[in-house]
Amino acid sequence: MGASAGALPSLLLGILLTSILGSLGANPGLVARITNKGLEYVAREGVATLQSKLHEVTLPDFNGDFKIKYMGRGHYEFHSLDIHSCELLGSTLTPLPGQGLYLAISDSSIRVKGKWKVRKGILKLDGSFDVKVKGITISVNLLLGSESSGRPTVAVSSCSSHIDDVETHMSGDLSWLLNLFHNQIESRFRRTLESKICEEIQDLVASDLQPYLQTVPVTTEIDNLAGIDYSLVEAPRATAQMLDVMIKGEIFSLDHRSPVGFLAPVMRLPEEHSRMVYFAVSDYVFKTASLVYNEAGFLNFSITDDLVPPTSNIRLTTNSFRTFVPRLARLYPNMNLELRGAMVSAPFLNFGSGNLSSTPQIEVEGFVLLPNSVREPVFRLGMATNVSAALTFNTSKITGFLKPGKIQMELKESKVGIFNVELLEALLNYYLLNNLYPKVNDKLAEGFPLPLLNYIQLHDPVLQIHKDFLLLGTNIRYLRV
Ligand SMILES: *[C@@H]1O[C@H](CO)[C@@H](O)[C@H](O)[C@H]1NC(C)=O
Ligand SMILES: *[C@@H]1O[C@H](CO)[C@@H](O)[C@H](O)[C@H]1NC(C)=O
Ligand SMILES: *[C@@H]1O[C@H](CO)[C@@H](O)[C@H](O)[C@H]1NC(C)=O
Ligand SMILES: *[C@@H]1O[C@H](CO)[C@@H](O)[C@H](O)[C@H]1NC(C)=O
Repeated sequence: MGASAGALPSLLLGILLTSILGSLGANPGLVARITNKGLEYVAREGVATLQSKLHEVTLPDFNGDFKIKYMGRGHYEFHSLDIHSCELLGSTLTPLPGQGLYLAISDSSIRVKGKWKVRKGILKLDGSFDVKVKGITISVNLLLGSESSGRPTVAVSSCSSHIDDVETHMSGDLSWLLNLFHNQIESRFRRTLESKICEEIQDLVASDLQPYLQTVPVTTEIDNLAGIDYSLVEAPRATAQMLDVMIKGEIFSLDHRSPVGFLAPVMRLPEEHSRMVYFAVSDYVFKTASLVYNEAGFLNFSITDDLVPPTSNIRLTTNSFRTFVPRLARLYPNMNLELRGAMVSAPFLNFGSGNLSSTPQIEVEGFVLLPNSVREPVFRLGMATNVSAALTFNTSKITGFLKPGKIQMELKESKVGIFNVELLEALLNYYLLNNLYPKVNDKLAEGFPLPLLNYIQLHDPVLQIHKDFLLLGTNIRYLRV
């Protein structure tokens, strides 16, 4: 008793610490939100799919004993049951605050055709029947969670079903048999079906849906350099108006994934729900992307004379620099130059002012290409520019476009005396506009894919820029394949 009383405070402390530490660094980079309006659409589409799928369901045989006055006991059997038609009319899918989702189907009916057999002593009869099950109501609570691998989990936390009425039509003209069905079998059939519905739903969720979710990939390749991590950082959050799914949203190098040295910001999402789905994409996603591409050398560049347009009156040769940097041509006559550029650090997007912008700092090093294929470093330049970025969101991806700004250049170090920086500014500007920007814009035009959107078409998209994140909202339409 004493030991467990002493253990309790430390246990509580342990739980508290674990939950605090567990939540540190667990901010999502990406939040996918589905609103009530989106869930309504999913319910309508889901029921249409279910209605067509139900025809493929095989129903179990159904049998039992009966007892009739003056005639005694007998045995009946229904077999070859086949769903002939079904009408699922009312369906609702709504968030279940704190738990997940609530699914309700009401006002529905199913018509089943099949064969019957009755045995009573040596008497054997058979024929066909047609049952109409009317006023079916089903309510299911789905508990949504996430497991340690970041995959979603789903379980049925409660289920109930009710059937108003069962109507049987039998072939043949045996009134005692009809009465038998009406009096004894219809109600039993109704009760069996009522319990069967929830059993089937539990089974569907536990043995189809949940195992399927365990195989859903939590990372997707973007291209041959980078992948994106879509794992959940916590269980989906349901409130009265929407279901929010918190996703890691980290872009990583396919070659060597290394831990990210900063946290995703806390996103304060506005209570928007006029569109069916929203995606909040934090600057974390763009930062991790920039790190990966920069580290892979995607933003490094090298300019040699063969890349300078023939019409240019300045060449990347020591002779061409003669009038501006006399010492260069004197020390290294008749040699070619190479300019190598790299970002000082991975450029980040600023979300601040309603527009997106970036201020990349580029370092350019100039080399003389000596005859023995040795590169002799001779100067270093610093370049700064303000780039504005436009993002669009009108397919299943976010795509972007950079609008270059003016370049500022300064000499950082020279081993060949002072020279005219403006001369190189024009050349570098030309190179960036015609080579580096188009290369980055091609990459941005490929875009990066959002989860959930593979078979979905977007309409009425909206895009808002908030502090630290973009909010994309859209209505959706299933593409049936
Ligand atoms: C890119 O350039 C920088 C600076 O010159 C260099 O340190 C880095 O190794 C280069 N990255 C790749 C992948 O070539
Ligand atoms: C955003 O960019 C547009 C177009 O380039 C410009 O007209 C507008 O002034 C910019 N707004 C801010 C807040 O910088
Ligand atoms: C970029 O914009 C900032 C703030 O508007 C300004 O201070 C800086 O000089 C600009 N840099 C360039 C290279 O235009
Ligand atoms: C997406 O938007 C851009 C810019 O508004 C436009 O140029 C492009 O054609 C659009 N793409 C589609 C598939 O609608």
